[in-house]
Amino acid sequence: MKTELITMAAPARAAERAAAILRAGGLVGLPTETVYGLGADGLNEAAVRRIFEAKGRPQDNPLILHVPEAAWLDRYCLDIPAEARDLAARFWPGPLTMILKRREIVPDAVTCGLETVGVRCPDHPAALAVIRAAGVPVAAPSGNRSGRPSPTCARHMLEDMDGLIEAVVDGGPCGVGVESTILDLTGERPRLLRPGGLPLEALEAVLGQITVDRAVTSPLAAGERPRAPGMKYRHYAPQAPVTVVTGAGADTARYILDHAGPGTGIICFDEYADSFPGCAVRPIGASADTAEQARRVFDALRSFDGAAVTAIYAQCPPDAGLGLAVANRLKKAAGFQIVALEEGA
Ligand code: TXA
Ligand code: MG
Repeated sequence: MKTELITMAAPARAAERAAAILRAGGLVGLPTETVYGLGADGLNEAAVRRIFEAKGRPQDNPLILHVPEAAWLDRYCLDIPAEARDLAARFWPGPLTMILKRREIVPDAVTCGLETVGVRCPDHPAALAVIRAAGVPVAAPSGNRSGRPSPTCARHMLEDMDGLIEAVVDGGPCGVGVESTILDLTGERPRLLRPGGLPLEALEAVLGQITVDRAVTSPLAAGERPRAPGMKYRHYAPQAPVTVVTGAGADTARYILDHAGPGTGIICFDEYADSFPGCAVRPIGASADTAEQARRVFDALRSFDGAAVTAIYAQCPPDAGLGLAVANRLKKAAGFQIVALEEGA
């Protein structure tokens, strides 16, 4: 299959073209503010099944539905709590996915048979225009092949999906760079299933304290079932093994330098970019700039594939603000292979 690259030179025409492909049951790579998604008509079972094939995605990992406005929530969800409407009013369009009880109309292919569905309204003009033009909710996981780092530009999308899908809409690089924050609102208390582009602190300012699912910060025990099925899979991983080093920047830089050699890949803060001579160094932003780190972390992880890198070390921000999401992606890429240095050691 020849994958068409749709540019946004004529935005209305581009949205119409992508929408026509979706309505015909095709797959389209779509820019969002978080990462690129692999979209299909979320009410078309056959189209949704093709997403799983193209990604090589396990059959028990449900998809989220993308809607153009909060008013669509009632079409696909039941028993919507007041908190969900409040959060949608405050944070949509934006990087928040809410897990809610689903209506019958949502196909099993989307939810993998669960009684709940994830819904989000993306903050990207191209995504919103395509969804509106299609007139259907768009089911879209991140557009990577399963297990790979998520795509944050059209080039990444084509690296993984060229020849497998009908089209990619090129909406430029993603402004957030890590996926949406996932909040489960179907239990007794709200629960964070995945940290993402909307900081936990912003949600807690509205809802009070939120339970953070264990799978966010720790590896799962053998046979343990996480609440977000996707959290159990090895994810975001480059070909070479990754070790995450946590602690003060100067200490982690020294530790990494002690363990690095030729052929070591290094993800570091900008302040330490010149500290690792002979290594393949990928600075991802200043240590205090977690927004920049979020924008660059997936590109850095991807960039080692095809390079002669046999091991990767990564500096890691603390678990605050967007740092929680950046740290989670790095730790998952490392399969939770973490070296924790004492502060000031
Ligand atoms: O930012 C994002 O959320 C991107 C863009 C494209 O919107 N999408 C994305 O989708 O990251 P995906 O499929 O890569 O990640 C969705 C995660 C998976 O871990 C999945 O298991 C979980 O959400 N999930 C989906 N539906 C769920 C449900 N009903 N209950 C619990 N977890 C669910
Ligand atoms: Mg994904």
